[in-house]
Amino acid sequence: MGKFIVRGGRPLNGSVKIQGSKNAVLPIIAASLLNKGTCTLKNCPNLRDVNVAIEILNIIGAETTFSDHIIRTSCKQVKETVVPNHLATEMRSSIIFLGPMLARCKEISISYPGGCEIGPRPIDIHIKALKKMGAEIFFANEGILCCKAKELIGCEMNLDYPSVGATENIMLAAVYAKGRTIINNPAKEPEIISLQNFLKALGVSVYGAGSGRIVVEGCDEIDCDMEFDIIPDRIEAGTFMAAAAITEGDLVLENIIPGHIRPIILKMTEAGCQIQEEEDRLRIMAPKILKAVDIIRTSPYPGFPTDMQPQMTSILSVAQGTSIMIETVFDNRFGFSEELKKMSADIIIEGRTAVIKGVSELTGTYVKSKDLRGGAALILAGLKAKGETVVDGAVHIERGYDRIEDKLRSVGADIIKID
Ligand code: EPZ
Repeated sequence: MGKFIVRGGRPLNGSVKIQGSKNAVLPIIAASLLNKGTCTLKNCPNLRDVNVAIEILNIIGAETTFSDHIIRTSCKQVKETVVPNHLATEMRSSIIFLGPMLARCKEISISYPGGCEIGPRPIDIHIKALKKMGAEIFFANEGILCCKAKELIGCEMNLDYPSVGATENIMLAAVYAKGRTIINNPAKEPEIISLQNFLKALGVSVYGAGSGRIVVEGCDEIDCDMEFDIIPDRIEAGTFMAAAAITEGDLVLENIIPGHIRPIILKMTEAGCQIQEEEDRLRIMAPKILKAVDIIRTSPYPGFPTDMQPQMTSILSVAQGTSIMIETVFDNRFGFSEELKKMSADIIIEGRTAVIKGVSELTGTYVKSKDLRGGAALILAGLKAKGETVVDGAVHIERGYDRIEDKLRSVGADIIKID
């Protein structure tokens, strides 16, 4: 599983280049299946989930290389429509192959997706929408999802919830559907806009991403060689802002899009940090002692991102005063707080609400991460804690952060990774 060993008490100073976005590149890797030509994707993060997605792509029939943060892939013909269980269950985003595979070859069999333990991860919105487009979807034995579609027909649909993954799946299925598809109440995340831009670069007529209504015109075939830059990872940017905040640090983050992290900037400012923004970088200077933030409620974009809730909870655990964190997106995303309490944090969880009473000191100890962002939150606590913190379960953290220990060490953290 691997462990991070962190010795706390060192303020972070210097500059860090933010990686390409995990949650932008994963749907784009799946979307590359729609193209018989070559897609060259630049600024790709070297993550476990990215390498799993590439493995799935190659099993389906693509030829893919990945080096120096550039993925080159082309799928001239689909050779396989069954996604192996061990890959599908490795991560949630394996579900994003449903749309492009139904579009490209009208069938796919894949097991129920895996991913972070942050609550049940239903796919009812995905299934309801794809069925409305003409797909037959049923669960075969052992939770294998079998999907077939003689033909996908474009239609108008309203999502019960602005699901990111469901929005992406419908957009990709719609590319080869007959006629126009309209998605009302779609997710508005920057990763949805990025997926739209990728599809436009493939020549697809699609518009409205980021608004309350996305429209996709179906087409017959895509066969072009193209290049695309992956947007910066707004959650890694937020995580490093939190690392500066909790260590009384002064960090410059390079390769960011400030507009994508506006809610994070606002809450960090409320907690007492000074932030200077430029076009593609920002500087964050932390106070000696952070201030509590009355209330933070996670919500779909452009609200405060659920993927920053654990990291924010971590830094508020040493702020002056009491903060309230309400997690509205996932059912069970406070699991990491039990580990934080082992480090002397004072947090009371009641359902989807955390009451965080700031303490003057955290104490280093052995803690175990069970999910990606919860694990990052434990590393942040270790950067502040007195003494040594061992964060077990590094494998979860490496799903979303490319060499986090090297980046933290480059700005002064005392952190190593052991297998
Ligand atoms: C994406 O997950 C991200 N993952 C998540 O990031 C992120 O937390 C989430 O969007 C919300 O922003 C990737 O992009 C790979 P959802 P996704 O469908 O698509 C419920 C990280 O740390 N729901 O918007 O799975 C669901 O249970 C990861 O990088 C249904 O009820 O998120 C959840 O409560 C974690 N039925 C809520 O909607 C469905 O059919 C949001 O899920 C689908 C979702």
